[in-house]
Amino acid sequence: MSWNFEEITLTAQNEIQSASDLKTLEDLRIKYLGRKGLLAEIYAGLSQLSVEEKPLVGKGANILRNTVTALIEQKYKDLEEKEKSQSSAKQIIDVTLPGVGVSMGHEHVLNQIVDEICEVFEALGFVIHEGPEVETEFNNFTALNIPIDHPSRDAFDTFYLETPDPERPGRYFLLRSHTSPGQIRVMEKFQPPLAVVIPGKVYRPDAVDASHSFMFHQIEGLLIDKDIQFSHLKGLLSAFCKRFFGEKIQMRFRPHFFPFTEPSAEVDISCYICDGKGCSVCGRKGWLEIMGCGMVHPKVFEAVKYPKGKYTGLAFGMGVERMAMLRYGIDDIRMFYENDVRFLRQL
Ligand code: DAH
Repeated sequence: MSWNFEEITLTAQNEIQSASDLKTLEDLRIKYLGRKGLLAEIYAGLSQLSVEEKPLVGKGANILRNTVTALIEQKYKDLEEKEKSQSSAKQIIDVTLPGVGVSMGHEHVLNQIVDEICEVFEALGFVIHEGPEVETEFNNFTALNIPIDHPSRDAFDTFYLETPDPERPGRYFLLRSHTSPGQIRVMEKFQPPLAVVIPGKVYRPDAVDASHSFMFHQIEGLLIDKDIQFSHLKGLLSAFCKRFFGEKIQMRFRPHFFPFTEPSAEVDISCYICDGKGCSVCGRKGWLEIMGCGMVHPKVFEAVKYPKGKYTGLAFGMGVERMAMLRYGIDDIRMFYENDVRFLRQL
């Protein structure tokens, strides 16, 4: 078989030059240089040629192979370059496109409630004070007129640490079981008149269920001056409830007992669901309990060494989770702590 090398070279050159992508070029490489390609066929036929023809065809085939290889290599480089510049062109930033929004978190609902409650009291002249979560037994109990044999001191009711209180032999540190020890810290540091709110975490070894948690939040309030009366307490707390729950809300003071206040009361608000008619949220009572309060017990003033009989004061304490649950109709305290953004995003 005779080969027209000139013509083959021209065809190959045209084909290679017009290849528009790497895939087409690879097909052409296989067509000419592949194991079953044209050059392989030419070389395979050499043995059948005459002695005169053999070197001529062999030489032509070698030139063809070198030419085609060089053409393909060059074209390969060109195409690669082209694809690179095309893909980088694709990456050019279109500044007119709207940006990808960064999803912003927001304050946890409990912190929102803490801020909101504190703001109401700040507007009434109170200042915010924060005490430590690790407290002395003295501040958490003794100074608050909670005697040594009081059931709330049981290990079942309080988390005790193994660290002894250096100032009081035989007494230990504990995780505060309420924010009331903050009252002691404030009174030990400042002389009346004073008005503070003390927000913070408190701990009790309660089994977790829909209404209990081993950690929750409280806000304590304390106002001390000369001649503070129970009427101040009522006026203050009704102003607070109206701001927080709305003007329509009714409230009542129910006599109760707390060791650190005398007299003491619990504050109920009319149920926001049924307007006091009675429903499942308020247990058909029409009222919801929201906080404890009272007039500071003289024994507490004695513990902080305030001059006897000089001052009177009011105190109150409320649960933050409870306020949030009432405000938003949340029926399971665990929702606050589980970090389920589907829940948190709604509030
Ligand atoms: N410390 C109380 C508790 O955790 C709440 C409380 C009641 C605080 C009456 C007060 C108060 O300041 O006067 O149950």
